[in-house]
Amino acid sequence: MKPTEMPVVQTAGLTKVFKDFWRRDRVIAVDSLNLEVRRGEVFGLLGPNGSGKSTTIKMLLGLLYPTRGRISVFGKPPTDVAVKARIGFLPEESFLYRFLNARETLDLYGRLFEQHTRQRRERIEKLLDMVGLTAEATRRIGEYSKGMARRIGLAQALINDPEFLILDEPTAGLDPIGIRQIKDVIRELSRKGKTILLSSHLLADVEDVCDRITILYGGRERSTGDITDLLSREDRTQFITDKLTPETVDTVRTLLHESAGKNILSVGAPSDRLETYFMQTIEKAEKTNARSSGARRSGALPDFLGATAPPNVIEHLVSEADRKPPPSTAELLEIRPRQEARSKSEAVIEHLTQPKPAPPERTEAQTPVVPEKQDASEADRSIIDALMQKKKDADDG
Ligand SMILES: Nc1ncnc2c1ncn2[C@@H]1O[C@H](COP(=O)(O)OP(=O)(O)OP(=O)(O)O)[C@@H](O)[C@H]1O
Ligand SMILES: [Mg+2]
Repeated sequence: MKPTEMPVVQTAGLTKVFKDFWRRDRVIAVDSLNLEVRRGEVFGLLGPNGSGKSTTIKMLLGLLYPTRGRISVFGKPPTDVAVKARIGFLPEESFLYRFLNARETLDLYGRLFEQHTRQRRERIEKLLDMVGLTAEATRRIGEYSKGMARRIGLAQALINDPEFLILDEPTAGLDPIGIRQIKDVIRELSRKGKTILLSSHLLADVEDVCDRITILYGGRERSTGDITDLLSREDRTQFITDKLTPETVDTVRTLLHESAGKNILSVGAPSDRLETYFMQTIEKAEKTNARSSGARRSGALPDFLGATAPPNVIEHLVSEADRKPPPSTAELLEIRPRQEARSKSEAVIEHLTQPKPAPPERTEAQTPVVPEKQDASEADRSIIDALMQKKKDADDG
């Protein structure tokens, strides 16, 4: 970060106290937090269960009001609509409509962001590929496993090409392949200059992707810093060499002792990480064409995101910035219902339920990317009715 560049997030004395029924202070969820997330970095918010990670994130999104303290996101209050338009958000809990399939779900969000049909369809197919769910895209989200729903949540968070991505436990419920893919996506997005804040308890994953971290405990910051600085052992030196014979190890041991008065503390063969071994095993199983109705290991992801291999989903999403600033996911998901977002979503659902005139005959070359059968406009009417009823109940309640 250049010294003059304003951090994406800055908080000062940020505090959230949840009150009980009698308005007495019950839980200090976040306590005097001074946080700084710099442009282009991957920032990890760590801490055990109940340490205040999600509460902090909700305050950054303007979904919860702080009890005390100040927050600025892109130099503005988080409730500012223009700020929200620049954020993508993957919440801790799945919020997806159970009755829509994956393609319809992404279509719904694309429509809410007022994306043109062609752009929307292109983004949807690329995002489905990126999260390895193209083959399962016509199944209802309600039938999905937790990890499959999480993958669609990530695709949803990226559909508006956000500058700042907030991921609350992005790898929760994912298999090792999904975790690896999400880490690859995070790294690739970071290379493209996006700022990412994520919360997690999976320390190995955080270590793989984060530049800086803050560790919370009881709502208070306990440690903050650059991850390599925090983890480096200044009092040790490590060599990794080609395989040595026991005789050579002895020679080196003697040399070190005689010339520098130092001892070798441990000698051994470095082992592969379990993640690497797991990925190799699955790759072998896939080569035998074993059956699976789950998420696929999308081999396309790394090439897809590589700088030189078009078409590249992230590149594509980055370069095709919408002319008009779209409403953000955060805004759409705001706890206090915003009239504008609500009416937009109703309009989209209405649109989905409208009987459509028969499409004009197409030549082979004009066949749309999404087969007609999977078009949301042809979704089972009873599903949409159930959805509308559910929404009405939620609104009434
Ligand atoms: N709406 C709420 N009402 C009352 N207490 C709450 C509310 N939301 C969170 N809390 C409390 O605030 C504290 C911090 O919760 P938070 O969800 O921020 O933790 P977390 O670090 O995200 O935990 P986890 O790792 O389990 O997701 C907890 O004690 C929790 O019970
Ligand atoms: Mg949480």
